[in-house]
Amino acid sequence: FNTIDDMDLDGKVVLTRVDLNVPVDAGQVTDATRIEKIMPTIRDIQEKGGIPVLLAHFDRPKGKRVDSMSLKVVIPALEAALGQPVKFAEEAIGGPAKRAVADLAKGDVLLLENTRFYPGEEENDPTFAASLAALGQVYVNDAFSAAHRAHASTEGIARLLPAAAGRLMEAELKALDAALGAPQRPVAAVVGGAKVSTKLDLLGNLITKVDHLVIGGGMANTFLVAQGIEVGKSLAERDMADTAREILAKAQDSGCTIHLPVDIVVAREFKANAENQTLPADACPADAMILDAGPETVARIAEVFDSARTLIWNGPLGAFEIAPFDAATNATAQKAAELTRDGKLISVAGGGDTVAALNKAGVSGDFTFISTAGGAFLEWMEGKELPGVAALEKR
Ligand code: 3PG
Repeated sequence: FNTIDDMDLDGKVVLTRVDLNVPVDAGQVTDATRIEKIMPTIRDIQEKGGIPVLLAHFDRPKGKRVDSMSLKVVIPALEAALGQPVKFAEEAIGGPAKRAVADLAKGDVLLLENTRFYPGEEENDPTFAASLAALGQVYVNDAFSAAHRAHASTEGIARLLPAAAGRLMEAELKALDAALGAPQRPVAAVVGGAKVSTKLDLLGNLITKVDHLVIGGGMANTFLVAQGIEVGKSLAERDMADTAREILAKAQDSGCTIHLPVDIVVAREFKANAENQTLPADACPADAMILDAGPETVARIAEVFDSARTLIWNGPLGAFEIAPFDAATNATAQKAAELTRDGKLISVAGGGDTVAALNKAGVSGDFTFISTAGGAFLEWMEGKELPGVAALEKR
């Protein structure tokens, strides 16, 4: 695919798809990571004489105007990151958008209203895509985290204008390729989280690609059940036991070693600092629940990391939101961070809770790459083609 370097942007209006779907509380952006990460793209477009017009969605208004989902809410955070005022158009298409674009001069940045206020966005309606495309001369997609959506602003528009990947899109794709596309081996993956059922495709794909798969969190309980181990009151999907056995068998066939907890931390209540015990994995009392992996498991995971050259991480290993059940997640994350700092490991992490867990462990700055994507990261780990990326590649 093309990058900004391949494009002539001088004097052109550059329709720039970004992900401004940031967390907001009481009218304030509470985490501006996604906003900060698109700055290199906006600056590089400006440096090449282009005028960035930002296209983005916010939340899920389902094709109609919902005032509480206006993108206006992100303007102060965007202006703070950019260090300049940002113009705003109350519509993403039509008269108001055209007039706002006509008023632009070099150096300006314009943000268009939430593309999901229009039904044509999620329907990937060619007419809506054409209305967006009519506003500019070049399209840059910097929203890897929305690339799993085949929407007008992520996919349809890329067919209508000269298109290129933005800097964040480039960085995400490069990191993901280094982790699973053409990785340095051995490759280890950590997959945690509550449910096997939501990560079936992901596990199925990973066992064909990685050398070691560490399974943690509630998902691991389902695998223990599949091996005939009682897990008491733990979160487990008993109806997924057959599926879990199939995954174990397939992993063996494809040379992927699966690592399950060998010891567990159990408690009778799900609350911070609940009284707890560390036990062998097959010794969960009937009235207790597994809330974390134990120290022996942590030591084994550390050995796996020591033997690996590449690590890909999605999902916490225990109930990381409440101490002390964040211990396994923190200790293994710190181990990965240390190996990365020493240049021994390439570490890539992404998806929902993962980034929160690594931030909490205080190590996200030490990982080689932390994706800004939630759902898109998962779909990519499932081995699926992302329509927003494919549309750039085809050009
Ligand atoms: C995200 O927040 O992960 C992306 O912006 C995609 O949002 P969506 O899940 O509402 O499509």
